[in-house]
Amino acid sequence: MYRLTVVTKRYTRGKETVDALRGIDLTIADGDQLVIQGPTGGGKSTLLQMIGGLDRPSSGSVELDGVDLATTGEARLTRLRAEKIGIIFQSFNLIPTLTAQENVETALVPLGVKPAERRERAAKTLRSVGLGERLTHVPSEMSGGQQLGVPPGP
Ligand SMILES: Nc1ncnc2c1ncn2[C@@H]1O[C@H](COP(=O)(O)OP(=O)(O)O)[C@@H](O)[C@H]1O
Ligand SMILES: [Mg+2]
Repeated sequence: MYRLTVVTKRYTRGKETVDALRGIDLTIADGDQLVIQGPTGGGKSTLLQMIGGLDRPSSGSVELDGVDLATTGEARLTRLRAEKIGIIFQSFNLIPTLTAQENVETALVPLGVKPAERRERAAKTLRSVGLGERLTHVPSEMSGGQQLGVPPGP
């Protein structure tokens, strides 16, 4: 579970400062599904970066299962991201020269998973979202929805 306590994020550009987050308190229990809604520039992406361990808050704590992502070391943070956090980005962040299967496999490299198991797990995951026929396609050979891994409708 997540427990965010008085999380703030201030961006500084020269003399200009932007308070993107001003004291967010938020608890997310295991199994919760949450939608964050708000105006453009309201801080949604900033909040997701804190929750995803991609950036650190200016103050406050972002605890994931008792570990504070705000202060934990970079090596441990990398490990936690690999083990516990999955993010579907607005921009795909796929590697254009790798196939669908190889792109999915990259998430398992930091976990030290052996190549044969990586290939098998990536294929299984892609099949589970209806992309079993697209394992050897590169991103430019797939639709936008397929690049995001969105399962086709019923
Ligand atoms: N890296 C950055 N440097 C400076 N200001 C930023 C940076 N990222 C976001 N901001 C500012 O922080 C505010 C929140 O941005 P953001 O979290 O991207 O909003 P949202 O995702 O809700 O549209 C905006 O005013 C934006 O201009
Ligand atoms: Mg955004």
